[in-house]
Amino acid sequence: MKPLKLLILGGSGEAADLARALDGDARYDVTLSLAGRTKDPALLPGTLRKGGFGGAEGLARALAEERFDLLIDATHPFAVQMKANAIDGARVAGVPLLAIRRPAWSPREGDRWIMVESLEAAASAIGQDSRRVFLTTGRMELAPFRKAPQHFYIVRSVEAPASDELPPRMELITARGAFNVEDERALIEAHKIELIVTKNSGGAGAAAKLDAARALSLPVIMIERPDLPEAPSVETVADALAWLERAHGRASSA
Ligand SMILES: NC(=O)c1ccc[n+]([C@@H]2O[C@H](COP(=O)([O-])OP(=O)(O)OC[C@H]3O[C@@H](n4cnc5c(N)ncnc54)[C@H](OP(=O)(O)O)[C@@H]3O)[C@@H](O)[C@H]2O)c1
Repeated sequence: MKPLKLLILGGSGEAADLARALDGDARYDVTLSLAGRTKDPALLPGTLRKGGFGGAEGLARALAEERFDLLIDATHPFAVQMKANAIDGARVAGVPLLAIRRPAWSPREGDRWIMVESLEAAASAIGQDSRRVFLTTGRMELAPFRKAPQHFYIVRSVEAPASDELPPRMELITARGAFNVEDERALIEAHKIELIVTKNSGGAGAAAKLDAARALSLPVIMIERPDLPEAPSVETVADALAWLERAHGRASSA
């Protein structure tokens, strides 16, 4: 039997973990698709394609023309557009879809979270008085904070934002997770950070800053998850691998 052609929509830790878990597995021929925002993405096994498909129709066309058998949407929890495109594209092309949707973080005892619905609301929730803010929302999403220039921002992102996108008073840290709690605590203390702004991405890789904030009794402005369209989904890479096993079992007995 020929290997099953799998397209993974990437841009998350799960996508990378899934690509690594399938490395050398002759049952699958894996292509990992990235939006192309990161110039220098982590090296991963499998075929890599970069850049958009051209909406749901473009994705449906690529699925059909390149004869993909399976689609896994492993995009970031805030990548709402691509999640919708995955559902529509898979339906039109008649390709089975699975989404990996990691659970959101929820507050624990000792947490001082301020829940907000948007980046704009996060920027205004910091308040009028000048604060030292640890900003981990991603380099594409700094515009609302430029409108709150009274604060000093410690901006952490995987790659440096364009200089005209940065808030006027800031220090940039480029780093790729996962992060550990000791280092997060040391960073918070060294930079005299007074509060943290983050999206509720969930997952282990970025959670250490929340543990450090709890230990230091620091407030966290938490941008809540967007509403996501319904799709067949699992929470973990292990469950996605089990779904693939089942798909392979069905194809080999057909
Ligand atoms: N949003 C975040 O907070 C965040 C955080 C970390 C990582 N990321 C990752 O960064 C990428 C872009 O995120 P976003 O929020 O801008 O996405 P989005 O708003 O949901 O998608 C915008 C467009 O980007 C293209 N795209 C997105 N993911 C793609 C993929 N894996 N392969 C090919 N094209 C893709 C699609 O273009 P076409 O319509 O032309 O196909 C899509 O319509 C995603 O892969 C996401 O997982 C996002």
